[in-house]
Amino acid sequence: MTYQDVYAAWQNDPEAFWMQAASSIDWIRPPSKALFDDRAPLYEWFSDGIVNACWNAVDRHVEAGRGDQLAIIHDSPITHSYRGITYKDLQTRVASLAGALRAKGIENGDRVIIYMPMVPEALEAMLACSRLGAIHSVVFGGFAANELAVRIDDCQPKAIIAASCGLEPGRVVHYKPLLDKAIELASHKPDFCVIFQREQEVAKLIEGRDVAWHTFQYGVEPAECVPVEGNHPHYILYTSGTTGQPKGVVRHTAGHIVALNWTMKNIYGIDPGEVFWAASDVGWVVGHSYICYGPLLAGATTIVFEGKPVGTPDPGTFGRVIQNHKVKTFFTAPTAIRAVKREDPACEYIRVYSLKSLKAVFLAGERADPETVKWVEQHLNVPVIDHWWQTETGWAIAANPFGIETLPVKHGSPSVPMPGYDVQVLDEGGNPVPPGTLGAVTVKLPLPPGTLPTLWNAEDRFRKSYLTTFPGYYETGDAGMLDEDGYLYIMARTDDVINVAGHRLSTGAMEEVLSDHPAVAECAVIGVADSLKGQTPLGFLVLKKGMEDQAEAVRKDVVKMVRDRIGPVAAFKEAVVVDRLPKTRSGKILRATMVKIADGEDFRMPATIEDAAVLDEIRTALQGSGYAGG
Ligand code: COA
Ligand code: AMP
Repeated sequence: MTYQDVYAAWQNDPEAFWMQAASSIDWIRPPSKALFDDRAPLYEWFSDGIVNACWNAVDRHVEAGRGDQLAIIHDSPITHSYRGITYKDLQTRVASLAGALRAKGIENGDRVIIYMPMVPEALEAMLACSRLGAIHSVVFGGFAANELAVRIDDCQPKAIIAASCGLEPGRVVHYKPLLDKAIELASHKPDFCVIFQREQEVAKLIEGRDVAWHTFQYGVEPAECVPVEGNHPHYILYTSGTTGQPKGVVRHTAGHIVALNWTMKNIYGIDPGEVFWAASDVGWVVGHSYICYGPLLAGATTIVFEGKPVGTPDPGTFGRVIQNHKVKTFFTAPTAIRAVKREDPACEYIRVYSLKSLKAVFLAGERADPETVKWVEQHLNVPVIDHWWQTETGWAIAANPFGIETLPVKHGSPSVPMPGYDVQVLDEGGNPVPPGTLGAVTVKLPLPPGTLPTLWNAEDRFRKSYLTTFPGYYETGDAGMLDEDGYLYIMARTDDVINVAGHRLSTGAMEEVLSDHPAVAECAVIGVADSLKGQTPLGFLVLKKGMEDQAEAVRKDVVKMVRDRIGPVAAFKEAVVVDRLPKTRSGKILRATMVKIADGEDFRMPATIEDAAVLDEIRTALQGSGYAGG
């Protein structure tokens, strides 16, 4: 079968296509049909099936004789350690943890927040929740207490599972004080917290609230897999939107596991027993789909990598892991490759390792610039596949389906739409634009299985954010174009989301922090081009009258405030003080024009600008700080 055949099979009969994909899943009761459209434009998949995600990711492989195969490899250059966990071990460990959670009152439908670094226990915590039908919400370890608190208040967890610490190069991230602070800040209080004590740091437990990961499992009955409906929320994953309130993307159980299982073979070319490595973090959607669930659903071996592309200990780390664990398909972010390339332009560190197991490299999370793609192609000599997706979709909207056939690669394009996605580029009036014309990238409804059916407790926001601008279409928030061959090009976001080192961040959230400074009258945050991280945030501050001599101190304060309130991952390091911000006559800040000036690009003078002279002031201020060609 070619890609064309497979895509046409889906187009001709989506119902049959997804029912066929669903047949690779173990059902307690198979679904009567695939699509449930009675609440259109809200859609669900396999809603009347009964299933358990943990069973499909773990137990069924033990039953099928894969018990002794490695399910998880923990490779941690940061702690100089390595550990393998077989499917049989994983089943025992997850059943025990689930049993202990159940003994403390966790049931089907309860929310559980997971705040953990890259240790296998993070996956075990996710799977233990899935086993019970509890809805997990993993929070990335680089977020500060305030961000954790916002998520606690939104999803109201009965329990939080956290580690005592995370490890960044040269720095211990003290999770426990962040957790304690978050619970103090939040209005909702969890019934209990489970703390996984790492040997690098033993955290002090709060009596009556905290239990230790190991001790609370003593003597409990292991839990069996709890049957749940196909449309049971499997997890909530918060992602950045335009405001400081993150969006709680909901993933339904059945669609999620059917779609991921399909992608492992058809997109990534992975068969049971093979090794798949996504060098991301469990706190991101890539971690959910391709460190935890995808590879395990497929009966493959997944790698939990606790390290960085460079500096742990050198830019050869990726090569070492690929060689030592016989990785077949490797998935990373372009930023990570750029980091390696910057330190080792000739790729000498990676190439000392034998990479003969490696068959493909996948890139996602941000635009893959052609230079980066070419560099990997040249040095690793395997297909390098850019693919485009979002937290909302959970799996690739556009990709080069390596497992079906590798289509000719066009640098700068994440290739073609995957089955399930009818991608259309629309103009402002909602009309399709001709090939080669830039527009809003949308997907004709319904979205396929595994994508978001709604936002947690925020159906209105879901409709407004994604379904209203172009009725009948899902608005991705990305701008781009299709070419004559149907290849897609993703150029930029259409909203205030920026992408820093493959991490999705909200400039609106940063502006909310900046505007809290007592000396700040007005502010704006934009994403400026960065040769390593793709984009980095840059703040603009207009100070209150009489505060002008405080500029230096305020700039330092706001950098610290963003780090403390959003987290180090925001990488907010710079703010420029200006007299005023460029605005339209109706008062809208012209952020897109500011981005162009900062990046030294040409721009068209906005027709609606209130006072064009302000743009020169902005350019001068930026040049004084080393931007805009300064
Ligand atoms: N917990 C706590 N802090 C974290 C963290 C985590 N899980 N992840 C990152 N941080 C911190 C870093 O320590 C850094 O802190 P600092 O300001 O004290 O130095 C800050 O957040 C910014 O981190 P990062 O964006 O990772 O930048 P970096 O300069 O440390 O590293 C790269 C640069 C390119 C090596 C790194 O960004 C990288 O590996 N990027 C790939 C990203 C990726 O895989 N994304 C997944 C999307 S698919
Ligand atoms: P996230 O939800 O964190 O996965 O971020 C999703 C956003 O990252 C998308 O909407 C795009 O803006 C960007 N993105 C992800 N992958 C790609 C890609 N391959 N090419 C271009 N942009 C991408």
